[in-house]
This record gives sequence, structure tokens and C-alpha cells, in this order.
Amino acid sequence: MKQYILMHQDTPVAELKLDRTAGVISSVGKVFHAAHVPVGIPVRRGMIDRGALNEWWRGRSIPASRMGIKEALQKMHLSDTGLLLEKCLGLSLSDQYWIRPDDFTVSWRQVNFFENDFSEDVGNILLGREPGSAPVSLMSPDNTSDGWLKKKWTILNGKRCLLKGGSGAACQEPYNEVMASYICECLHIPHVSYRLVTEDEYPYSVCEDFITPDTELVTAWYVMQTAKKPNHISVWRHYLDCCERLGVPGIREAVDQMLVLDYLIANEDRHQNNFGVIRRAYTLEYVGPAPVYDSGTSLWFDKPVGLIRPGVKMTCKPFKNTHEEQVKLVTDFDWLDISALSEAEEILRDIVKGSLFVDEARCEALCRGFRYRVEQLEKIALSAKKPVFLDDRKFDVKKDQAYSGKA
Ligand SMILES: Nc1ncnc2c1ncn2[C@@H]1O[C@H](COP(=O)(O)OP(=O)(O)O)[C@@H](O)[C@H]1O
Ligand SMILES: [Mg+2]
Repeated sequence: MKQYILMHQDTPVAELKLDRTAGVISSVGKVFHAAHVPVGIPVRRGMIDRGALNEWWRGRSIPASRMGIKEALQKMHLSDTGLLLEKCLGLSLSDQYWIRPDDFTVSWRQVNFFENDFSEDVGNILLGREPGSAPVSLMSPDNTSDGWLKKKWTILNGKRCLLKGGSGAACQEPYNEVMASYICECLHIPHVSYRLVTEDEYPYSVCEDFITPDTELVTAWYVMQTAKKPNHISVWRHYLDCCERLGVPGIREAVDQMLVLDYLIANEDRHQNNFGVIRRAYTLEYVGPAPVYDSGTSLWFDKPVGLIRPGVKMTCKPFKNTHEEQVKLVTDFDWLDISALSEAEEILRDIVKGSLFVDEARCEALCRGFRYRVEQLEKIALSAKKPVFLDDRKFDVKKDQAYSGKA
């Protein structure tokens, strides 16, 4: 058992004890600054809910579903990804929480990964690369990265960047991220910009960290934990309501934009950790919605070419279980200029040109599938713009002429 202080930058949040063999929080002690407790973790009568904090802590570790995680853990001689958290003091490149050993006087400035270099050993192992002969350094922001795709943080030209791979035979996610960036660019949707790189013949997407030493990402999941959802309220409404209560500006517009993008690219995995809001870690003030990120699980990424066609069943998240129902939540299409996408197919062809994974037949099917979705969206947006027809009884014919004068 080791004693730590849960920290938020240099603000002490609470005392906690960590069971170092299981990687779990075994007890939570005194709370120093309740306002800095991670968003969505209940504090009752000055006490943090230990179960919820443990879930949050475990949620910081690499998910057990991460591709290739078993082999990576073997190489690091560890039995569980939770054990990596303590090795990097729980530090992340997506928020400003960490744990400071009780007997260790170190400041956040000295340890955070935004301003201090970090080893890429863990990242390389996670990507399946062989570790060198030197001892492996486990002080890495990769220990706290979410998601199931193989990925690593790296420093390129002094900027923190996330390198992400693809999955399956088509390895389509990196191409999709680039395509989604292009669509967002055309439609003026605030987004993380992804570009393509090829390493050892495999495609990867690279994007810059959209979090700075001053800010942090609060995912929609935790935003929605800030209040109990009443049964008669939809998930979409609940998200908007929670954001409003927290004082996050610009959410309705951002959700409209995200839903339009996800309809266009047929995104199948916009779960509640794949979008969220940004707040300032020091002042706790909400800046606004996070830019759109992680749009790779889209464009029929895991479907064979024959199933890239209209009418094929697709998963939809986070608000409704079909894309047709979900796009109905868009409250305003006035900002949408579909004609800005007139060159999108050409761009898609360009993105996958020369790919060993997306061949010509697949590329053509993707273009056809995408074109159909653009056409559908255009119809949906047009019909939404029509003024609602009001059936006003004031103008009703008072007496049916057919019967007047007849006996
Ligand atoms: N550019 C970024 N800046 C900061 N944090 C990021 C960035 N991209 C992703 N993240 C964080 O890393 C997590 C995993 O990345 P994501 O792109 O969602 O991977 P996956 O496709 O495997 O789900 C995200 O849920 C988010 O918390
Ligand atoms: Mg994700």
C-alpha cells in the first residue's frame, strides 16, 4: 500500500492509498479541494465516492481491449495495464490529473508530459516494435491512453502528437481520419486535423494534441455523470442539459455539426468517450466543446466491399441507434453548405492512392457509398428547412357545400 495525493496540476485534491499489486485505490482520505475532484465523481458530505474514483482511475489505464496488449504486457513483464498507471504517476496528455507520492516534493511543472520530454519505449512496444536492449522506461503518456487502436504519443518538431494505426485487412481508420478532417474543413466544423504517414508499409494517422498545459478534455461520459438522467429525458437532451448546467458555451451548434459529420461518414463508434468538452484546469472554467476527434471507425471500415451499399445495417452512437433517427436531432442546417463537398470524392481517391490496403474496387465502393450519403443528407437538410405546415382550424370550411341545400 502506498500513500499518494491526487493532484490537479499543483492543486492537491485528496489523499489516497494505492494497492500496488492490484493497481487499485484501496482508500480515499481527506479531500483538500472538492471543486477539483474529477468531473462526475460524487462527493458526499466531504467524502469522495471510492467506487466511482476507482472506476475513473481504472478508466485512465489502457483498455484490456487494446489491440496487441497481451504481447505488449508480456514484453514489459506486467500482468495488467492498470499497473502502468503508477509508473507514470497517472499523468496524461489529455488532462491535468496525477498522483504525487506522499513523501515526494515534486511540482507538476517538473513532471507533466506537456512540458517535459518522455520516453517512447512503451509507445514503441504498444505499436509492436521490439524494445531495445536498454532497460525500458515506463514513464510514458501512453500508459494513460484510451481506445482500442494501436497508438503512441510522440514529439514531432516540439509538438506532442498522437500516432494511430488501423485495424483489419483494410486498415482504413487512418485514411478515414484524414477524410473526416477534410470534410470538417469544408464545412467549417472545428476539428482535430489528421494527416497520413506510412511506416513499414502500414498507414498511420498523426494529429497534434488539442490539449495544452492549461486545459483538459472532459469526455461526454463524465459530463453526463454530473446529474442523474431522468427517465423521460433522452440521452441527447441529457447531454445538452448537463452542458448547460456546467456552463459550457456553444454545445448545441457543436453537437449539430458532429451529428452531420457522423451521418455523412456513417460513423459507427462515436461513443461517449469520443467527444466531450474542454475546461481550464486552473480556473475550472469551461471553454467549449472539444474539436471533433476520432472519426476513424466510419466509411464502412470493417465491411467487405460487397456490403458497402445503402441499406446495410450499421451501428450508430451516441444518441440514437440508427443514423436516420440520429440525424433528426440536428436542430439547425442553415450553416450547412453541402456544395462545399463537391470535390470530396476526388479527395478520397487521392487519400487512398497507392494504398496497399484500400484497392481500387474498395475505393470506388467508398466513393459511391459516400455520394449516396451526401445526397441523402441534402434531402434531409432541405426538408428540415421547409417551414412547418400548420393545419389551422381557423380557415376550415364551415359548412360542407356538398350537403347544403340537399335534404
Ligand atoms: N489529439 C488529441 N489530443 C488530446 N487527447 C487526445 C487526442 N486524440 C485522442 N485523445 C485522447 O486519447 C483517447 C484515445 O484516442 P482515440 O483517437 O479516441 O483512439 P481510438 O481510435 O483508439 O479510440 C481519446 O479518447 C482522447 O481521450
Ligand atoms: Mg476513441
